[in-house]
Amino acid sequence: MLKGKSILVGLTGSVAAYKSIDLIKRVRQEGASVTVIMTEASKRFITPLSVELAAGGPLYDDMFAAPLSHISLPAEADLLVVAPATANSIAKFAAGSAGDMLSAVFLAFRGRTIIAPAMNWRMYENRIVQRNLSHLLAAGVKTVGPERGTLACGEEGMGRMSDIEKIVEEIVSSLTRQDFAGEQVLVTAGPTREYLDPIRYLSNRSSGKMGYAVAKMAKRRGAEVTLISGPAFLPPPDGVEVIRVETSEDMYNAVMDSIPMASLFIMTAAVADFRPAETKDAKIDKKDRFSLDLVKTTDILAEVGRLKSKPFTVGFSAETGHRIERARKKLLGKDMDMIVFNDVTMKGAGFDVDTNAVIIIDRESERKLPLMSKEEVAMALLDRIREIKGGMGTF
Ligand SMILES: Cc1cc2nc3c(=O)[nH]c(=O)nc-3n(C[C@H](O)[C@H](O)[C@H](O)COP(=O)(O)O)c2cc1C
Repeated sequence: MLKGKSILVGLTGSVAAYKSIDLIKRVRQEGASVTVIMTEASKRFITPLSVELAAGGPLYDDMFAAPLSHISLPAEADLLVVAPATANSIAKFAAGSAGDMLSAVFLAFRGRTIIAPAMNWRMYENRIVQRNLSHLLAAGVKTVGPERGTLACGEEGMGRMSDIEKIVEEIVSSLTRQDFAGEQVLVTAGPTREYLDPIRYLSNRSSGKMGYAVAKMAKRRGAEVTLISGPAFLPPPDGVEVIRVETSEDMYNAVMDSIPMASLFIMTAAVADFRPAETKDAKIDKKDRFSLDLVKTTDILAEVGRLKSKPFTVGFSAETGHRIERARKKLLGKDMDMIVFNDVTMKGAGFDVDTNAVIIIDRESERKLPLMSKEEVAMALLDRIREIKGGMGTF
């Protein structure tokens, strides 16, 4: 996701500094090259050697040791991230001070800057620190966190540096085109549960991974995203509003409540087609033989298709076998704009895996994508939607 990008990472003197070794590694894993700038205080918390090993190159800590590096490094970089950012360095940035290598680089850098504050809650809540942070915000600096939690001093409060994954996501989205900014995207994900009695239910193998990936990528491209999720054991994507549901009826109600606000609706959820005709209030006793009477659930996509005013609608069609004709019929029958066909019996595609192989079918064309990660499938899907709809504000 960061292939070819050059990232400057600033490290300051906080106990959270050791976590930045992982940040440096993760950013490099995403394909970026990393140059690290350390303050003197940060070297009391992690060794320059570990930092250089993680970064795969020399670090910078003294502007007089490498003359004009405080100008040349920022001129060549795509993004500057300071994580952790101490109260002291935040004060220097806000004051426009350039007394050390990191603050001089901060002043000289013209691109997107992200800081991840980390400090004791009393320091963080101090009005002077808050004033400095709002100065930086007004100057276009993006902050990630801090979070509430147990701090290094043992106290509870606001001041923990955000998780590395959250900082990485902020870096990636800062360097991703924001071509879904202004869009309200509604995504459904995961399976549903249809109860026989208070203990047993009918469900399916959907993990929710595809829908969570779509929600994350739409958010990364600037959309406001609401994710209606059936039972899925996945961390919610950052910055996405998650509505949790269990049954197909809950999912139908949640979709109908949210759809008037949506400009784009992507239904990846594997909603049960049938539910027990009756849900017993008490546990059904064990018997030698037991038959279950099933009735059809509400077809959410068909109901959305019947709405007078509806968003651009994308359905997913999981099939066992290459039954692409059924997907084409669904596209027209339910008045969708696009359907994503996948044969879940194919190796590496379908349930509970991180990859998928799909065919994107719309009113104009069919595009077969190779086996790729679910995040890449989500990106390709959003690319095609943008292609069909043209520029922003066209939904
Ligand atoms: C054990 C210890 C932990 C510290 N942790 C933090 C911290 O998490 N956040 C912070 O703002 N300052 C913290 N400080 C204070 C900074 O290290 C100090 O203000 C230093 O001057 C920061 O310099 P720098 O911003 O140039 O890195 C800590 C100091 C010590 C001794």
